Amino acid sequence: MDHFTLRNGEIYAEDVPLSDIAAAVGTPVYVYSRATLIRHARVFREAFAKLPRIHLAFAMKSNPNLAVLKVLAGEGYGADIVSGGELERALAAGMPAADVVFSGVGKSAAELRRAVEVGLGQFNLESEEEGAELSAIAEAMGKRAVCTLRVNPDVDAGTHAKISTGKAENKFGVAYDRAAAIYARLSALPGLEMRGLAVHIGSQLTDLGPSRAAFEKMGMLMRDLRGRGLKVTHMDLGGGLGVPYRAEDALPGPEDYGAMVAEVTQGWDATIMFEPGRVIAGNSGVLITQIIRVKEGVGAPFVVVDAAMNDLARPAMYDAWHDFAAVRPNGKRMIANIVGPICETSDTFAKQRDIDAVAAGDLAIFRTAGAYGATMANTYNSRALVPEVMVDGDRWAVVAERIDPATILAAERVPDWLS
Ligand code: LLP
Repeated sequence: MDHFTLRNGEIYAEDVPLSDIAAAVGTPVYVYSRATLIRHARVFREAFAKLPRIHLAFAMKSNPNLAVLKVLAGEGYGADIVSGGELERALAAGMPAADVVFSGVGKSAAELRRAVEVGLGQFNLESEEEGAELSAIAEAMGKRAVCTLRVNPDVDAGTHAKISTGKAENKFGVAYDRAAAIYARLSALPGLEMRGLAVHIGSQLTDLGPSRAAFEKMGMLMRDLRGRGLKVTHMDLGGGLGVPYRAEDALPGPEDYGAMVAEVTQGWDATIMFEPGRVIAGNSGVLITQIIRVKEGVGAPFVVVDAAMNDLARPAMYDAWHDFAAVRPNGKRMIANIVGPICETSDTFAKQRDIDAVAAGDLAIFRTAGAYGATMANTYNSRALVPEVMVDGDRWAVVAERIDPATILAAERVPDWLS
């Protein structure tokens, strides 16, 4: 459920007409609903009411906007980060360093050092090599880094290949069969405090089967480690729960996921950690765009919008579907191809789709754009970096300004030897 609904013939974000925002800020622009973020954060937390100890770390790669992080920090969420830049954002949003979890195969020495310095809550080690490096860094600083070992369970998540992370051939974690031996060796290092295991098999998971299989394997490994006298107090089950991108999609929701986790983890006697991204942020945001013109096409017209693959990359990258709706629907429908202005055929949001009839000048939205939307935006074709707005009831604010091509141009230099 979200708070982008039709009222008096126009789509509102909470109590704000989207056309007000478009008129003031211009298009394209992302709009987030604070109430929706809060609702999703609470529904997800409540799904695990049966678990004795949990920790929630928002996967901020899905939406690192400072205002979004503030809202989630207020809901008691920490962050799952993958870079030093994300660490500084989490801290800037007021998240305690102790609530932050650091994932990723390529944490640099500088990033590891900074994270140890601020007292990071947990490093999810993705290799034995990383563990050795972190131990040396922490020891030199007179500290111990709290860690889990990320394990690759070799489970097919059944999602798009580009967002699948838990197959043996993927770069993430250590091989399941080698994990126990690696965990034992890492546990003996002076700069590390190994406290558990981590797993994340992929994103936009629409079937609970693969997650269940992965978690069961992690439970077996946990028992194996404990049997060897090794300490395991924390089990990080990652993120990945999918969201409905089409209004009619029926997917397992947080309650179903929570019930499955409660069943699998019964008797684990560990703090269960989660790294949800999309399920929190996805339906909390839309991208407003304006129709530039409607161009004749073969079979169906091209609706050319002012948003493009640089603003919302998911359709071009993953053939992703985002529902499209006119901000002021006139009740008529049309079959159309929705495309952006970028000079690539992949700059296509929808093909031969049945949509609200629109004409040049109309406003429309792409729904479910709050996760992996603005954060993946770029300035390809020397376009602006898309701005972001947050709505709260009847008030709203720009929470990320548009960065104009002129600002980007001003950061470039022509060396003397070229002039
Ligand atoms: N934890 C780890 C270690 C991850 O790698 C990810 C996502 C998450 C948690 C959060 O997953 P979520 O709950 O959001 O599914 N750009 C792609 C998605 C990439 C996901 C990368 N990792 C997309 O637009 O679909």
